[in-house]
Amino acid sequence: MLTENGRGIAFGGDYNPDQWSEETWDDDVRLMKKAGVNTVALAIFSWDRIQPQENRWDFGWLDRIIDKLGKAGIATDLASATATAPLWLYEKHPEVLPCDKFGHPVNAGSRQSWSPTSPVFKEYALTLCRKLAERYGANPYVTAWHMGNEYGWNNRNDYSDNALNAFRLWCERKYGTIGALNQAWGTTFWGQEMNSFDEVLIPRFMGADSMVNPGQKLDFERFGNDMLLDFYKAERDAITEICPDKPFTTNFMVSTDQCCMDYADWANEVNFVSNDHYFHEGGEMHLDELACSDALMDSFALGKPWYVMEHSTSAVQWKPLNMRKRKGETVRDSLAHVAMGADAINFFQWRASAFGAESFHSAMVPHAGEDTKLFRQVCELGETLQTLADAGVQGSELERSDTAILFSAESEWATRSQTLPSMKLNHWHDVRDWYRAFLDAGTRADIMPLKYDWSDYKTVVLPTVLMLSAVDTWRLADFAAAGGRVVVGYATGLIDENFHTWLGGYPGAGNGLLRDMLGIRGEEFNILGSGVEGEPEAIRLGAGGEVALEDAAALNGATTRLWQNDVTVTGDRTQVLAMYAGEEADEWELDGMAAVTRNPYGAGEAYFVGCDLDVADLTKLIRTYLAAPAQSQQSQANTDVLHTVRKSADAAFDFYLPRGKKEVELQGVEGEPVVLFQTERGEENGSYTVRRNGVLVVRR
Ligand code: GLA
Ligand code: GLA
Repeated sequence: MLTENGRGIAFGGDYNPDQWSEETWDDDVRLMKKAGVNTVALAIFSWDRIQPQENRWDFGWLDRIIDKLGKAGIATDLASATATAPLWLYEKHPEVLPCDKFGHPVNAGSRQSWSPTSPVFKEYALTLCRKLAERYGANPYVTAWHMGNEYGWNNRNDYSDNALNAFRLWCERKYGTIGALNQAWGTTFWGQEMNSFDEVLIPRFMGADSMVNPGQKLDFERFGNDMLLDFYKAERDAITEICPDKPFTTNFMVSTDQCCMDYADWANEVNFVSNDHYFHEGGEMHLDELACSDALMDSFALGKPWYVMEHSTSAVQWKPLNMRKRKGETVRDSLAHVAMGADAINFFQWRASAFGAESFHSAMVPHAGEDTKLFRQVCELGETLQTLADAGVQGSELERSDTAILFSAESEWATRSQTLPSMKLNHWHDVRDWYRAFLDAGTRADIMPLKYDWSDYKTVVLPTVLMLSAVDTWRLADFAAAGGRVVVGYATGLIDENFHTWLGGYPGAGNGLLRDMLGIRGEEFNILGSGVEGEPEAIRLGAGGEVALEDAAALNGATTRLWQNDVTVTGDRTQVLAMYAGEEADEWELDGMAAVTRNPYGAGEAYFVGCDLDVADLTKLIRTYLAAPAQSQQSQANTDVLHTVRKSADAAFDFYLPRGKKEVELQGVEGEPVVLFQTERGEENGSYTVRRNGVLVVRR
């Protein structure tokens, strides 16, 4: 999988043959051949079919289907099959069930109804893993292992006694002494001091309106992530001990409305990175959101190709309203993932189920069967991916930007705390807004995990990175001192890794180092959006006041609706780029106060964006101050298209995808066209019309 001499771009999906009679299997293989499918993910939910009773194993059906697929040239990505456990196991060991906040065990009957910290469950799961590895480790048709499935989706927060015991041990490992834990959690607040690790609690329900210690809650999030990662590693190790030669992965869930795990940690533990991405019904945002999620995936993969393990051919069935995809979108979304660095395009699922919770979820073969628009698109996609593989796209790497937006899973968890000045903070959404604004301003940014190495970039942006440790603040200072540009958003650097507020004025990260870098000092936050009669809903930015102005017009009329930092300028050389202005600003005593500033720092500079701004205003800000002329490779001369480049040793591939509903005219495109999906060639050399949901790929 994902090797240059591999089988082409992997194309297929989750395959659940256990829902169908064996006669259907032959038809499945026929249709898979027709569509160009070359890989399936098998047995994800099949534990009970493999081990129908504790002492009975049945591999016959799995042998037959793997063989049948393999002989037809379709490789199997074989699951460890632990995503659902058989009912007999719950009957015998109800203690493996996770518990909800109230300490009540959840009932069996859905997915992931198991506690990752249950030693009993782990034993059963690892026995299954070993059995599978023994049986299929040498099977040539099994080309990779698919551990679990979307770890944590249903059992991310487990409040069982198993979890309590494991959490106490986790805290002891992390802090060593109870004194260190008391200090970290700030337990002198509300008299929560612990005498020993036996008194450590997990944040179970403490009564209506009770607030949880945010430090404890944050550690509980980290613990949940670590326990699932440990469980994944145990499965992986059980399998790879017996079968050391096959690549393995587990499917992440990265989209901008989700941040289940800290995948920056997980990415180090897989052979190849894979993701499940479900589209947002965001109208104009659809493609931008996809690209934004993928930009983070590409960083997890360290710029190497990665795997789309699941997306949907059309509608899902798990939202209140489930919109379908329009004509072309099935192919377009898939090619967009390839444009963003994916070397594998897979769907949930191959054949739409006839029963069960997901029967109304779209699939590659819909209920109406083969003679459908959807299946024809799936076939067209298969052909197109083959064309791209033949042209040499596979193995090529996405060209990187010189701007990185920094992402921190821990800041995302922290912004969900219910004890902040506003509950509307959302780090991930602010990352997405900045990402879109860069596209609108003509640059494609990368998204880098804060904990990775971003020191080679020219510019880093920190949108609502609420939590900054001293070490991370020093890294930022070193980066700026060496000539880098740091852009600090409005709710960034307020707390440390223990959820202690940095003192001395906001944003105080690094004992005031961040403040010094910015040349400002904040005293309070001004929060809008209460909806209270007589209170302004928004505050405008513009010129005015006493501070020296530069380029003041750029952000004239920009609007902030949630959060303004009440700051004074402290740096001698700090420039105020925009101020709060007008009646509403005056109403909140912000008139003439610095809203956006720039401060030289070492050989570099630090910007402060002291309030929330929408995508259009961020775009103006980027255009005026941040768009470096040297960004030629990533420059999106035409901001109506998403333009990416994938490079291999001997070729570069340019992908052009209209971001909105309008068709796009392109001129002067160099290179040989490889894919013209919903695209027409113009009369002049290098001119093209890319229609809505179309894709142009050229090879240079
Ligand atoms: C109550 C409590 C205080 C404090 C305030 C905060 O009045 O008695 O301890 O929590 O609310 O508003
Ligand atoms: C997840 C799961 C799949 C399926 C899809 C539906 O990604 O992994 O099994 O339930 O969601 O969208």
